[in-house]
Amino acid sequence: MNRREFLKGTAWMGAAAFAAGCQLNRFGFGEGGQMQNYCYRKLMGKKIRVGFVGIGGRGTGAVHRVAQIPGCEVVALCDKDPARVEVNLAWLREQKYSKIDSIKTYVGDEAYKDLCDFGECDVIYCATPWALHQPVGLRALCGGKVALIEVTSALTVDQCWELVEASEKFQIPCMQLENCVYGEIELLELHLARLGMFGEINHAEGAYIHDLRGIIPSSCKYNGEAKWRYQENMVHKGDRYPTHGLVPLCQTMGINRGDRLDYLVSLDSGAYNTNYEKFKKEFLGDDDPRKNDPPAEMGDMTTTLIKTAKGKSIMVQHDVSSPRPYNRLAFISGTKGAMGDYPFRCAFEEKCFDSKAHEWFDEKAANEIRAKYMHPLWKNVSDVAQKIGGHGGMDFIMDLRWAWCLQNGEPLDMDVYDLAATSCLCELTETSVRSGSKLQSIPDFTRGNWRNVQPWGVVNVDLEKMGFDKGAVEKDNAALNV
Ligand SMILES: NC(=O)c1ccc[n+]([C@@H]2O[C@H](COP(=O)([O-])OP(=O)(O)OC[C@H]3O[C@@H](n4cnc5c(N)ncnc54)[C@H](O)[C@@H]3O)[C@@H](O)[C@H]2O)c1
Repeated sequence: MNRREFLKGTAWMGAAAFAAGCQLNRFGFGEGGQMQNYCYRKLMGKKIRVGFVGIGGRGTGAVHRVAQIPGCEVVALCDKDPARVEVNLAWLREQKYSKIDSIKTYVGDEAYKDLCDFGECDVIYCATPWALHQPVGLRALCGGKVALIEVTSALTVDQCWELVEASEKFQIPCMQLENCVYGEIELLELHLARLGMFGEINHAEGAYIHDLRGIIPSSCKYNGEAKWRYQENMVHKGDRYPTHGLVPLCQTMGINRGDRLDYLVSLDSGAYNTNYEKFKKEFLGDDDPRKNDPPAEMGDMTTTLIKTAKGKSIMVQHDVSSPRPYNRLAFISGTKGAMGDYPFRCAFEEKCFDSKAHEWFDEKAANEIRAKYMHPLWKNVSDVAQKIGGHGGMDFIMDLRWAWCLQNGEPLDMDVYDLAATSCLCELTETSVRSGSKLQSIPDFTRGNWRNVQPWGVVNVDLEKMGFDKGAVEKDNAALNV
């Protein structure tokens, strides 16, 4: 029986299990095995064949990056828009990174299903609009492929469970492509945390504060993200993009590895920003049905407070419509010190004993800490990553890491439980906001196994072993920063 037949045959089982109130195996995938620290050995020492679904702004950047990783090959391109496939084929042809004749193309709304079911690739890299992330990822797992899914990878708690159960059932990794985990400051904080410099971390703050008012159809390069992101914000409340701020904090705090997210409360400000109304008035044609849409539901600022099982607190914010400078906060506070970004600053306990106890380290001292404790992975590859591009290099470091792990049979840095614990905030924050900030329990997707797993370590890659020729890397274009 192939996976497709299995899925068809088990649809009724999911419904029956659900009706019986069964918490495990809710979607009929069976119990499967735990995927924490799971070593997937099928691709060890092999060429990794990658198929892309959704090659608009972000997916195109991913094609550029992955094509330059030795041991990875772009073998399939899928988009509902044939023009996006053509643009990417043209680039690959020009760069000669892939064997262009062997690249298969899949065009149309449903074409991803054929790629996932029958495509000859090992990994599906999904960068579609949010609503398609989980269906593509689930289909990829059921088709026997490693699923790498852009943020936010799933929009509901049930969608998260489905991915967890499918990854467990088929014993195939499923990773959320959270690039901010590989930012310089986020990696520095992780390194310092493992050295014990913060003492016991008791509180952290993260955010996605990004003025996206410019993303409107008339100004967007591919007329893509503008349309669907606008629609999402029109009808939803809560934080639909929690992962950039939250996931790096979770990796540093050992969430799902010694601790877990327990419950949250969310509240939002009003939607005072009139940008969407201005957009409707000025940019939509008279016959565009969106002209009559009600004002955006999403508040300008959504703030979420999370308590962990071990009693730590985390604040996560989301604001994409105020004229504020970009900020992920990246703030870690512990019993011995604190560090944050935007701007970068830190203070450690030794200051408490002198007369400047209420001040951050001065710029010179802070920069000394930054240089001295730079994460070895950043030190090793940031020059080449910055040349290739993608949010200051962190996108390429993320891609290097999953490629390295798959090539060497090592566990991926983020597993399906990390995806689920953070993506489920989409639904839970909306429910909390709409219910007057009522407390929402965050499911334990590891089913208790978080107690048995060590926090993520200080990892690296060996560029030489990967066959990476630093000298051959050329600067790519700015389009990779989307
Ligand atoms: N991690 C990051 O830093 C980062 C940055 C930007 C975007 N993103 C995420 O990447 C994703 C894509 O964003 P984007 O800006 O590239 O959006 P986009 O609209 O430019 O690209 C989406 C692409 O998906 C295609 N698509 C839509 N429906 C499809 C279907 N049924 N089958 C195949 N293809 C389909 C569209 O034609 C388009 O080419 C989003 O989830 C976004 O949140 C992440």
